[in-house]
Amino acid sequence: MAPRIEKMMLTPEEIREGVWRLARQISTDYEGKEILLVGVLKGAFVFLADLARLITVPVQFDFIAVSSYGSATKTSGVVRIKKDLDMDVRGKHVIIVEDIVDTGLTLAYLMRNMLARGPASLEVCALLEKEIPGKSEVNIKYVGFKIPDVFVVGYGLDWAENYRNLPYIAALSKDSQ
Ligand code: PRP
Repeated sequence: MAPRIEKMMLTPEEIREGVWRLARQISTDYEGKEILLVGVLKGAFVFLADLARLITVPVQFDFIAVSSYGSATKTSGVVRIKKDLDMDVRGKHVIIVEDIVDTGLTLAYLMRNMLARGPASLEVCALLEKEIPGKSEVNIKYVGFKIPDVFVVGYGLDWAENYRNLPYIAALSKDSQ
């Protein structure tokens, strides 16, 4: 059955304002430093592209692709790296850029993995954070928007690889999940 876009969650204007706010915060916090933004493929690529262009301190990018094992609806927290970083993060000020933090398990794994590589500092910037009970605790310094536990698409987020190109973020109807 074709998925149905049920509800607009964030308009392009709201997203733009949120990304501006995060870029301003990061630019202030990292004044005088250089940042390595680590985008988590595929979802984060749209957000990272917009965020990076609004940050005013020097920025480098790299990307990592991971997949998590588990059932269709529940991730197990076991993560496999499908594409590793090209760069060495040792001594760099790293910010992991995520489109969405859901259970937090992917991020918990990525934090451990990145910390083991010896960055000068490590923070996380997530456009969306789901508010769900029992979520694994990860310290996310930069959060764009907190959203309820609904399935969202657009602005990089997909349903079966579709809808990543939508300029807004919307909730899908329950029967399409
Ligand atoms: C999404 C998102 C995070 C992860 C968050 O990626 O980009 O990496 O899920 O889930 P968690 O907090 O429950 O661990 P997804 O696996 O959908 O891949 P994609 O970015 O390629 O769409």
